[in-house]
Amino acid sequence: MRRIGLKWLQPGMVLERPVYGKGGRILLDRGIALKESYIRRLADFGVTHVYVYDERVAEIIINDVVNEETRIEAAEIVKDAVDNIRFGKELKAEVIKQAVTEIIDEILNNRDALFHLSELRIAGENLFHHSVTVAIYALLTGLSINYHKEDLLKLGTGALLHDIGKSRLPEWVGPEYEAMKNHTVYGFEILRNNKGFSLLEAHVAYQHHEMFDGSGYPRQLKGRNIHEFARITAIANSYDALVTGLYDKKLLPYQAIEYITAQAGAAFDPELARVFSTNIVVYPLGSLVRLNTGDKGFVVKIPKNYPTRPVVRIIEDSLQRKYQKNCPEIDLMKELTVFIEDVIEE
Ligand SMILES: [Fe+2]
Repeated sequence: MRRIGLKWLQPGMVLERPVYGKGGRILLDRGIALKESYIRRLADFGVTHVYVYDERVAEIIINDVVNEETRIEAAEIVKDAVDNIRFGKELKAEVIKQAVTEIIDEILNNRDALFHLSELRIAGENLFHHSVTVAIYALLTGLSINYHKEDLLKLGTGALLHDIGKSRLPEWVGPEYEAMKNHTVYGFEILRNNKGFSLLEAHVAYQHHEMFDGSGYPRQLKGRNIHEFARITAIANSYDALVTGLYDKKLLPYQAIEYITAQAGAAFDPELARVFSTNIVVYPLGSLVRLNTGDKGFVVKIPKNYPTRPVVRIIEDSLQRKYQKNCPEIDLMKELTVFIEDVIEE
């Protein structure tokens, strides 16, 4: 299957994966041939990419490290948690930990698979999906530095609820308000005062905006004075905010990773930033890229820990010769002078 940005979709292309709408309902199922009206509808729902059939990459199957149903379910649980707090009710720690455990189990089962996460954006519910994505990125990082399951559960729970303090702020308080910074303190209080959570989880909420060089908030903590779980969550949170355009212009994954790398040792723990970047698939499987040789092709295989050096299946070479069958392939792990210049059809 091929990954394609919405603006490149054409009527007649056939979906290879379902597209989900609000509440996790299927909006368009796999196997459906797209019509002009469907494409408009996808845009209305805030969908940015879909997966379609393409005979040149027909055998490529893209599996998420955590499947969409599990992520949607976890997002619904975060949504309920936020609603509960708004209505003055207690958070149910067991329900949240159950969701995190499910995510961890899926990641462990897919350990050898590629750490791929397809976009899962459902209009109006971004905060909740953001929380789930941050938790998954944090867990992948924790796993790479050999956390055992108990630590993964604490890290994942803290990361899933890192922004829970926002539920104590009026909805009109956007990121541009100074008062927004209080969500860290509120989150700490909410989790600390709930017997179902540990102090560590509360500290993730408290410290996820602290920066490695002391330039963060609320306490301007520095370096290892910031708990490792919070240092991990800070990177995951920033990365997802960049690629989804939460505060500013939306960046492509490789641009966001460049930012994270540039901030290693400044905003972020340098070692954790390095580990984080080995888990991010910057050029997703099935996406169309242009090489510095002028060739265009699909990413068909991504080596673990070297996400920027995939195998690329050429569909058009630098002389504009097009290939429909028996496309030549270039392995960037072997051709060391070749690199990806850009993603096409993003
Ligand atoms: Fe936050």
